Amino acid sequence: MKWVAKTIKEILFGHVGACIMLLCIVPVLFIGHRLYRGFEIQVEQRPAESEEEDLIVVGFSQLGSESGWRTAHTASIQQALTKDAGYFLVFNNARQIQENQIKAIRSFISQRVDYIVFAPVIEDGWDTVLQEAKEAGIPVIVTDRMVNVQDDSLYTTWIGMDAREEGKKAGRWLEEYLEQERRQSEEINIIVLKGTIGSTAEIGRTKGFGEIAVQHENWHILDSVTAEFTANKAKEVMRKMLRHYPEMDVLISQNDDMTMGAIEAMQEAGIRLGEGGDVIVISFDATRDALELVKEGRINVDVECNPVQGAYVDEIIQKLENGESVEKRYVVEERVFTKENAAEFLNDRTY
Ligand code: AHR
Repeated sequence: MKWVAKTIKEILFGHVGACIMLLCIVPVLFIGHRLYRGFEIQVEQRPAESEEEDLIVVGFSQLGSESGWRTAHTASIQQALTKDAGYFLVFNNARQIQENQIKAIRSFISQRVDYIVFAPVIEDGWDTVLQEAKEAGIPVIVTDRMVNVQDDSLYTTWIGMDAREEGKKAGRWLEEYLEQERRQSEEINIIVLKGTIGSTAEIGRTKGFGEIAVQHENWHILDSVTAEFTANKAKEVMRKMLRHYPEMDVLISQNDDMTMGAIEAMQEAGIRLGEGGDVIVISFDATRDALELVKEGRINVDVECNPVQGAYVDEIIQKLENGESVEKRYVVEERVFTKENAAEFLNDRTY
């Protein structure tokens, strides 16, 4: 028996044991390292000079992929800045984290790209990194959401939506609708599902709708809660809202993905939507899926936010390449969709 114990001791603490332990530990460390790297933000690199030929190298930092609208926005930029059109696009998805966007922009600067295009997740906090881009002599084109910077020479131009006007359009539509339904003197209880707090879309839509709402003493905003522009979060938030505010008359949801999530929660709770329903639903974006619901009447109105901004980016870069001047601000065209006109636009909707 003594020799058995001795052999076990040798295996555990001797050379053989050490080898076995190493064989077990190394793969664990390797897998752990790979997993850890998986969570780091990997910024794509520009190609070697020879591969670039005469291409214009553009670093594009997209804030995330939270919504159908975002997917369409990314596609629009990628479809406009192709190799055939003379570009090499270095793309990075920041997964909704501002730090990731700052890191991506710094990486674009160190790669000495020709242009930086970025869709900022929120408005504040960009002065330092944009100053670095300016010092490196790289023009910055801001797209979709806006930046709030001390010195507006830190970016060359901005292309996006008028979010405040979108909020006002929603408010004006509600005024007209209530009048049409002869409910203009009723007490109207409103719930707002907000997008990412501090983003242009959230700030503008909240402000614009609020400007119309204050003109009506009988409109009551019972609560405003963020669901971060995502369907899942909205479903969760809406379930709580329905328990707290069964008297809700109007839902204003600041994007279509949240509206879809909220509708699921309302359906679960047996709430009737559409003509003569329990809740009036107001949404923003007007993606194809949402327009289907507008057509069916389950969303009463959808205020468009236009993601097709790639062609503008291309046009601006071409102007800058030719030494022409560009405007500081380009606002994309946007419409309002209701049951009356949704069908006519559905066929051409690509997103
Ligand atoms: O900034 C545009 C907004 O961001 C869109 O309304 C929304 O769908 C997206 O996530």
